[in-house]
Amino acid sequence: MSNMIPNPEAYFRKLVPPRDALLVALEEEARQEGIPIVGPVVGELLFILARATQARQILELGTATGYSGIYLARACDVFEGRVVTLERDGGMARRAQANFEKAGLENRVEILVGDAFEEMTKMQGPFDLAFLDIDKESYAGALSHCERLLKPGGLLVADNVAFRGADEFNRVVSAHSHWRAVHLLSLLPQHSPEKDGLCLAVRV
Ligand SMILES: C[S@@+](CC[C@H](N)C(=O)[O-])C[C@H]1O[C@@H](n2cnc3c(N)ncnc32)[C@H](O)[C@@H]1O
Repeated sequence: MSNMIPNPEAYFRKLVPPRDALLVALEEEARQEGIPIVGPVVGELLFILARATQARQILELGTATGYSGIYLARACDVFEGRVVTLERDGGMARRAQANFEKAGLENRVEILVGDAFEEMTKMQGPFDLAFLDIDKESYAGALSHCERLLKPGGLLVADNVAFRGADEFNRVVSAHSHWRAVHLLSLLPQHSPEKDGLCLAVRV
């Protein structure tokens, strides 16, 4: 007899971390409007990674309505840290700003409205953690900016790396001498899509 839990997908679906009313409302809004937010598993993972690495300066690429940004800002709140989050859609940025205010996190988060590459070109580091969640075809281009903006030992987290568009990013981050990277294929309930890859990399 196998010593594995039978039907692990059903089993792990029951262990999705709890959320407050604001996050649940943002999940419902995202479901209705087809906004691809990270959902509660990656959200909690971002919180844990940011808290465990004591990240004070966090960079996020792809704000949408601010769902993942709320997890990141809550993680760095105890360190009086800040999240800089980049979003090219002005309407989304306004919605995110309202949500950060509802969460009482407006002093922790700065939204920069514009194309992520253009904004990053103007930015100075060092950041402790960067989270990639923009168009997947743009991940490879964002990598060199992250290499400049992350401190040595800084953590890079990339969502949706099982998308075809992330192929170049996956190959470069795995082979480049400035990164140590691991790719994880995961079950991610309420993520879009629910089975997808995540990449964790450290800037060495
Ligand atoms: C997957 S959604 C982000 C979801 C968000 N991280 C969350 O989980 O709550 C991607 C967002 O990135 C924005 N975006 C895509 N490409 C971008 C780029 N090159 N520069 C800035 N924003 C971009 C889109 O407008 C969209 O709102």
